[in-house]
Amino acid sequence: VSSGAVPLIERKKNGGELAPDEIRALLAGYLDKSIPDYQVAAWLMAVCWRGMTEGETLAMTQAMVDTGATLEWADLDRPTVDKHSTGGVGDKTSLVLVPLMAEAGAAFVKMSGRGLGHTGGTLDKLESIAGFRTELGLEEMGAQVRRIGCALVGQSPALVPADGALYSLRDVTATVDSVPLIASSIMSKKLAGGAGTIVLDVKWGSGAFMTTPEAARELAGALVRIGDGAGRRTRAVLSSMREPLGRAVGNALEVREALDTLNGSGPADLWALTLELGTHLMLLSGLASSADDAVRTLTALRDSGAAARRMEMLVEAQGGDPRVVARPDLLPAAPVVRTVAADADGWVAEAEARGIAEAALQLGAGRLRKGDPVDPAVGVVVLARVGDRLAPGAPLAEVHARTEAAAEAAEARLRAAFRLSPEAVAAPGEPYETVG
Ligand code: URA
Repeated sequence: VSSGAVPLIERKKNGGELAPDEIRALLAGYLDKSIPDYQVAAWLMAVCWRGMTEGETLAMTQAMVDTGATLEWADLDRPTVDKHSTGGVGDKTSLVLVPLMAEAGAAFVKMSGRGLGHTGGTLDKLESIAGFRTELGLEEMGAQVRRIGCALVGQSPALVPADGALYSLRDVTATVDSVPLIASSIMSKKLAGGAGTIVLDVKWGSGAFMTTPEAARELAGALVRIGDGAGRRTRAVLSSMREPLGRAVGNALEVREALDTLNGSGPADLWALTLELGTHLMLLSGLASSADDAVRTLTALRDSGAAARRMEMLVEAQGGDPRVVARPDLLPAAPVVRTVAADADGWVAEAEARGIAEAALQLGAGRLRKGDPVDPAVGVVVLARVGDRLAPGAPLAEVHARTEAAAEAAEARLRAAFRLSPEAVAAPGEPYETVG
């Protein structure tokens, strides 16, 4: 069989197209070890250079889905929705959106990952709630969704086993940054999750995977074409990740901010993105007849406290203390809190997501290697946003640290992430761009 892989690698190397069966055979051979990983790696590198056609990308995604289990929700009496963010700094949107959409009448099983490098992971954030279990079996997860309409869980290993295997090979062969490979990896997990409506939040900027809007647009297009091709109602929203989303970066700090947002007192940009993604989910799944209707419904569910009560049900169902929703002060807190002040006056021209994330990482909020522990309590709260006018001594950020020495080291790194300008800088306020 392994000699059979050579002509396929050769064809892709020369810019040709593989048939769906050929892609399926490569994946199956990789998983059953009849095709060695060096041949799969050579093919992945050829894909990086030559790309994949739309048909190949869809075939690749479907072949990946077929390597594992898929979730079925046909018996549910509510529309199933899902979302995915390509990852960023301070992105805690799922923690707000999942209970909100469940309250609005959707079934929402959100499978998430852990943080790695400078980007945070929803599972690490949730585990800052004492006792919260993210590893639910498929049966328990299904029962929970039927009972309360939502679950926030780890990606089930029963779904798309090919993705984990391929990703670890891509990781060590410099073949991660290929649009068809990223798109098929993301969408295989969404398709296997079984939702009828999928909204993708594609980030761009220093804190994101895709640094430019052009690159984000290209990925968004590929994601939406796969979703449409597989018969799901799919849309992508482009959003900026130059500054962190909201103010909090760090696990318990982010959970607190998400709970504040559910309780009506969170930062405006986090609520705006939640509403934007929620509006598309409502429209595509038939839960709202217009964008105005969706915004009105979602806002009312926040204001009445219904969405917060739905979050209490979710936390309780998954083993956490539901009182934390109304009392985020029950979350772990860092012993050292230090304010970093501006040393000049001027307008904030940059509050760079990547640098702020690295300061939080250095404090222990993230991990450098898979499997490293994270400290739930530490992180950064950003107090100065791009466009703010600051007087000397005005706060830029708060460092939440385990020790004075850690706070001191993070302060230096954090300062370098901010740039002040003597001239007025406008707040970004970019409109969201929609693809699909
Ligand atoms: N996220 C994924 O799930 N897969 C990729 O390939 C890249 C980012």
